[in-house]
Amino acid sequence: MHTRTSQFAAAVAASALSQLALSQTPSALSQTPASPNLARNLAAQCANCHGTNGKSVTEVASLAGQNAPVIVQKMKDYREGKLPATVMTQLARGYSDEQVALMADYFSRQSK
Ligand code: HEC
Repeated sequence: MHTRTSQFAAAVAASALSQLALSQTPSALSQTPASPNLARNLAAQCANCHGTNGKSVTEVASLAGQNAPVIVQKMKDYREGKLPATVMTQLARGYSDEQVALMADYFSRQSK
């Protein structure tokens, strides 16, 4: 009887702990990618012009292996119209800072 009660108490405590862990997930998500594939999936939207994984096979610049802060800054400048562009001004306006940061980090880790 005594053991049963403490087992029950332990189970309640464990369930409360896991609920706590679950309720903390959303804030953890804003610091780390929600899915390990999120950055890659975002980056895939750039592949038509910048090549698969940012490795360009055309005259459009490769993004693979570029410094993440440089990519972030250029995206900001395109968005704000500070950097002259044909298509990137429009495109850059379609992504949040967080999405740009994820893509920049992804591209910076691809081999040139
Ligand atoms: C429709 C084709 C196209 C797509 C899609 C595209 N880009 Fe671009 N990108 C360009 C072109 C063209 C330039 C050169 C600037 C210009 O004329 O807009 C460029 C330039 C850049 C540059 C500057 C490269 C350098 O070395 O100076 C960055 C960074 C960049 N793009 C990021 C992205 C990201 C991130 C995405 C995906 C969200 C993306 N681009 C999608 C065509 C594209």
